[in-house]
Amino acid sequence: MKRTLIILAGLIALPAYAGEHGRAVPLPATYKTECGSCHTPFPPTLLSAADWQKTMAGLDKHFGTDASLDAKAAAEISAWLDKNAGGRASTGGAEPRITTTAWFKREHREVPAKTWQDSRIKSAANCAACHKGADQGRYGEREINIPGIGRYQERD
Ligand code: HEC
Ligand code: HEC
Repeated sequence: MKRTLIILAGLIALPAYAGEHGRAVPLPATYKTECGSCHTPFPPTLLSAADWQKTMAGLDKHFGTDASLDAKAAAEISAWLDKNAGGRASTGGAEPRITTTAWFKREHREVPAKTWQDSRIKSAANCAACHKGADQGRYGEREINIPGIGRYQERD
């Protein structure tokens, strides 16, 4: 277990992706309610504006569910996503994902394969399983606590 933590700490040495680091975009109540009921309300900065447009246009067929919204909430959320979108695009497809991007894989590459399959995590999209501030849009290192491994620790 100790070794795993040290390996994880090696992630610190990755090139900095300024922007996301420590910068928490406050999540509006509508977004948290409507887009945080089935999963973590994902940070808007982690997909491009085009990806969010695609996501919002396909809510009636959203990853096997119907996540349709009333027109007012949809317009409000779309405008906010558009304004806060990042420069990093998904790998394409009708249903854009953060978790399949090269960036996501690189940032999480030291998470052991068996950890992703842990019943407390189940999906890489379950950000809040490890990032304790995810529901508020926070992903800082101090708030990482990985099921079966523990707190993320910076090596000094
Ligand atoms: C009715 C439930 C439901 C609602 C409401 C919902 N989603 Fe989802 N969403 C899902 C499911 C199920 C997945 C697939 C999760 C997985 O793979 O673990 C998903 C996945 C996603 C993903 C891809 C995550 C990844 O793997 O990177 C994005 C982006 C997303 N949703 C955005 C939204 C947005 C934006 C809203 C609000 C407009 C929303 N969702 C509302 C059920 C929902
Ligand atoms: C299995 C646990 C786990 C899950 C699930 C997970 N992460 Fe992470 N995440 C980590 C670890 C470990 C790191 C590396 C620590 C570091 O370098 O900050 C990390 C790093 C990050 C970082 C960089 C933080 C920084 O300041 O460097 C972001 C942003 C991030 N994750 C977002 C997400 C998002 C968004 C999701 C869900 C779509 C997610 N993570 C799911 C464990 C997880």
